[in-house]
Amino acid sequence: MKLEKQSVVIAGGGSTYTAGIVMMLIENQEKFPLRQLKFYDNDEERQSIVAKACEVIVKERAPEIDFLATTDPKEAFTDVDFVMAHIRVGGLSMREKDEKIPLKYGVVGQETCGPGGMAYGMRSIPGVVELIDYMETYSPNAWMLNYSNPAEIVAEATRRMRPNAKIINICDMPVAIKKSIAEIVGLENESDIVDRYYGLNHFGWWTEMTDKQGNDLMPKLKEHLVNYGYAAAGGEENPLLEESSWMDTFQKAKDVYAVDPTTVPNTYLKYYLYPDYVVAYADPNYTRANEVMDNREKNVFAECERIAAAQTAEDTTIEAGEHAEFIVQLAGALAYNTYERMLLIVKNEGAIANLDDDAMVEVPCLVSKRGYEPLSMGKIPHFQKGMIEQQVAVEKLVVDAFEEHSYQKLWQAMTLSKTVPSASVAKQILDEMIEANGEWWPKLT
Ligand code: NAD
Ligand code: LMR
Repeated sequence: MKLEKQSVVIAGGGSTYTAGIVMMLIENQEKFPLRQLKFYDNDEERQSIVAKACEVIVKERAPEIDFLATTDPKEAFTDVDFVMAHIRVGGLSMREKDEKIPLKYGVVGQETCGPGGMAYGMRSIPGVVELIDYMETYSPNAWMLNYSNPAEIVAEATRRMRPNAKIINICDMPVAIKKSIAEIVGLENESDIVDRYYGLNHFGWWTEMTDKQGNDLMPKLKEHLVNYGYAAAGGEENPLLEESSWMDTFQKAKDVYAVDPTTVPNTYLKYYLYPDYVVAYADPNYTRANEVMDNREKNVFAECERIAAAQTAEDTTIEAGEHAEFIVQLAGALAYNTYERMLLIVKNEGAIANLDDDAMVEVPCLVSKRGYEPLSMGKIPHFQKGMIEQQVAVEKLVVDAFEEHSYQKLWQAMTLSKTVPSASVAKQILDEMIEANGEWWPKLT
């Protein structure tokens, strides 16, 4: 069957992930053919570094695709079928502050977890909502696949502020973990794993995993987890594990697993279950933002500049990342009705039976032309339910704070977070974050 060609705009064209996504799109022309590929960013200079290289890549490997990079929303969002959005409002320099301010007070400093995630959420909400508005104005039938972080807070905000928008929020972390799991249990590919999973973004648990024939993978996986976490596997296969901070996170899953050996955890739970350990091993002067700026950002931009100067990408080191793979899968499922089973961040509405309907949960969904249909995960136990409800309340309070410009609500959110020890520490962090975020945040009163 001949597949209809698609038009895609990547919002956040200057992202360190864009070139990898372009490589993935080009490699998947048989599954997800493109007629047009556009980049949109609000930073022309940053985007042009990536765009000049991608123009060469497209010309060399898929010249039939029309390529365009622009900072004009009308040009970018007109005549598109998909918006693939990965913006970072405030950039890596603000990420650095999100991480370093809490650490000063002995609290986890992380991109999406704890006060850093809340600060980033307050910045991201208007940026992502603006992208939705552009899409609805210029291509009202398009789908937005959003992986701008913090995905959980962004999902709650867009649910409230643009309830009818065709946006799906997604995350690559479960895919990255499943890559390691596939290697541990001896499967070739993570897509050979059929799973049952519930929770929030960066905050969930697997209850079942089988292969496509229905064989239970959990006993072998658990035997490994109890000794090594997700590490000691995937070292070469999983690009995340080339970086020391991620190696630690994959190993620490061993201790996260120990807290509830009936389930298999998402790695990010270490920030909530072992915040003291995370802080003890963090360097308050050199955080993940510094690691990304010194490695991924530097390397990607240098390679893009090299390609643009040479006007060839024949020998490029840029690879189609796993981050990109599931985006193509998701877009393909929506375009071609494949009923792919994927973990998405969606409105609960009964998927987790004993949790509020309006919580944004991460659960397996069937994806087709009709959109997504969440699968029922049933009732969850006290331990997970307690943790999830606390975290949902934190995220809802952040969005309340954004909408109402409320200092009180953001203070409550920070106080309630499992990563913060007291209301007084929460207040000190909040006050410093208000200073640091200046115009990025609404003025809180
Ligand atoms: P980056 O800073 O390298 O790139 C982000 C780009 O977004 C920049 O070029 C910036 O100019 C642009 N931008 C910022 N605000 C914008 C706005 N309002 N409108 C248009 N463009 C805007 O960031 P990165 O490290 O490549 O990460 C990009 C995003 O992807 C982040 O939100 C990150 O957290 C997220 N991410 C998501 C996942 C996931 O699976 N959910 C995984 C990894 C990274
Ligand atoms: C990133 O910048 O890659 C994050 O989104 C996740 C990480 O690696 O910290």
